[in-house]
Amino acid sequence: MSQAEIGLIGLGVMGANLALNIAEKGNRIAVFNRTVETTRKFHADAGELKSRIVPCETIEEFVAAIRPPRPIIIMIKAGEAVDQQMEALKPHLASGDIMIDAGNANFRDTMRRFDSLKDTGLTFIGMGVSGGEEGARHGPSIMVGGTEESYARVEEVLTSIAAKYDGEPCVAWLGENGAGHFVKTIHNGIEYADMQMIAEIYGILRDGLRMTAEEIGEVFGTWNRGRLNSYLIEITEKVLKATDPLTGKPMVDMILDKAGQKGTGKWSAIEAQTMGVPATGIEAAVAARSISSMKEERETAEKILGLPSVGEFQVADKAAFITDLENALLAAKIGAYAQGFAVMSAASKEFGWSLPMPTIARIWRAGCIIRSQFLDEITSAFTKAPDAANLIVTPAFAALVKETDGALRRIVSAAVLGGLPVPALASALGYFDSYRRGRGTANVIQAQRDFFGAHGFDRVDGADSHHGPWGSGLNG
Ligand code: 6PG
Repeated sequence: MSQAEIGLIGLGVMGANLALNIAEKGNRIAVFNRTVETTRKFHADAGELKSRIVPCETIEEFVAAIRPPRPIIIMIKAGEAVDQQMEALKPHLASGDIMIDAGNANFRDTMRRFDSLKDTGLTFIGMGVSGGEEGARHGPSIMVGGTEESYARVEEVLTSIAAKYDGEPCVAWLGENGAGHFVKTIHNGIEYADMQMIAEIYGILRDGLRMTAEEIGEVFGTWNRGRLNSYLIEITEKVLKATDPLTGKPMVDMILDKAGQKGTGKWSAIEAQTMGVPATGIEAAVAARSISSMKEERETAEKILGLPSVGEFQVADKAAFITDLENALLAAKIGAYAQGFAVMSAASKEFGWSLPMPTIARIWRAGCIIRSQFLDEITSAFTKAPDAANLIVTPAFAALVKETDGALRRIVSAAVLGGLPVPALASALGYFDSYRRGRGTANVIQAQRDFFGAHGFDRVDGADSHHGPWGSGLNG
């Protein structure tokens, strides 16, 4: 039997589907899982792909089954398990072999792992894979970080398994060491914001307009045929229209309002804060998930405080209001994406990656969770202006913001007056309103800082005088 071109460790949902995708595209793949039974079952169930899959029961057997230099994908739970797996593999590997971490790793771990292999002859790729189970099986979006040379060695197989948008594969080398995992983290941060904004709009329709899940599903279905066309809007329609097999009620009405989170959204917000880049949409979305998980506290607070006493939620023209909701969601989405790209741009400088913005938008157009028509517009905006300071000042997006921000303002106002929480939508409006205002209010903050701490300030006239006439002493 000829040796496999590639190996994969970890036959969980993502790993198993990725392995089948790799085999289906004509590649021979060796697979290994900690639990031997899982490997046996995976192979037994692989149908016509069985002959291209080499099931291995020990690490020794696994490594020997792959043709050197060996590319080995590790698709296991992010964190310490990856370090342990790498340690277990290392003694069996030879110079030139590549370990590829395809999980949702923190890019700082990826950078450390990459560095730890320096001078060993081995190398490391941190590879973000998006698209969930379906994407892994039939075409994910793949974000690669590592040396360009190591990418060249796996490019063919990755291109064969990646999603295609108009025939273009959604995979790219994005930079050294942690670049791929960083970009995947920001992808997820944007995903958090997208999902939260959709949930807030759903909340306005459910609690403001008192529409049923089925009716709201219809609205999302209509939007999916317009400018909001995207995977997340598409699945929201499906989710809202699904019926619970146990009760016959709308499925969504039977699901507890506590959202889980595994860390990538939080990392996006932390890295944005660390670099001093506002990512308010992502931050609001992470915070909203945290508040969602405080179910008992919220229920107690509702008993004590009650819901806001704002009276009946009223709209004069329901159809016009729903059109406003659509445009508001589009405007807020632009804000979240602009912030995500701004964070990547700052990280690119900070970590010396030269992240290619048009390429990132291009490989997010298909396969990944945030895939949408909108990303094609971002690709085109960044292709025309790759060094734009912010997406919202590119001509196409400036025009879109001007067109839709009125709707966002009306919707946020209506929600606020109606006592409905819209932290992510409101954050986008706050971001636009602050970002587009040449003369802000931080002059007062500077004066206060100077007053209590003699921190100094710059003057609008450039004069060489950096303290105010606050009196005799600090705090005076
Ligand atoms: C993807 C998803 C995927 C996963 C996230 C969800 O791009 O395919 O983002 O990576 O679903 O881990 O993260 P949370 O569990 O934190 O929502």
